[in-house]
Amino acid sequence: MTTHIILGSDHGGYDLKESLKEGLSQNSEITLEDMGTFSTESVDYPDIADTVAQTVLAKNTVGILCCGTGIGISIRANRYKGIRAAVIFNEFTAEMAKKHNNANILCLGGRTTPAENALEYVKIWLKHDFEGDRHLRRVEKLDV
Ligand code: RB5
Repeated sequence: MTTHIILGSDHGGYDLKESLKEGLSQNSEITLEDMGTFSTESVDYPDIADTVAQTVLAKNTVGILCCGTGIGISIRANRYKGIRAAVIFNEFTAEMAKKHNNANILCLGGRTTPAENALEYVKIWLKHDFEGDRHLRRVEKLDV
């Protein structure tokens, strides 16, 4: 099954986004849609979060957002009902973000996470499944 991933970053996450795009493009089961930014020129991360969150919801798919820390861009994305944006920073948080939180947007920091680690975390998130059951009950309470 093909996974369509919506990508976005501000200037602080631009290099990481580009690196992830390169790494993920090697996987024939992944298609990518890059919503910018397209240079290291300074932009406001909420604007990118808006575009990616709205596209993830409209296309019922998943996304990756990068800023300097992953924090600001996740805060904005999480203002959208139906978005579960998770800042992850190691293998365990990548796995839990899917298994327990069913995160549909992964957030990473270009100034905190080396690109090769980030690619590994994204692969972990993609390969695991949401566990449902009690976690579904909890996830459903996020959007009330
Ligand atoms: C931009 O300098 C920086 O504040 C932004 O990328 C992000 O880290 C905010 O959370």
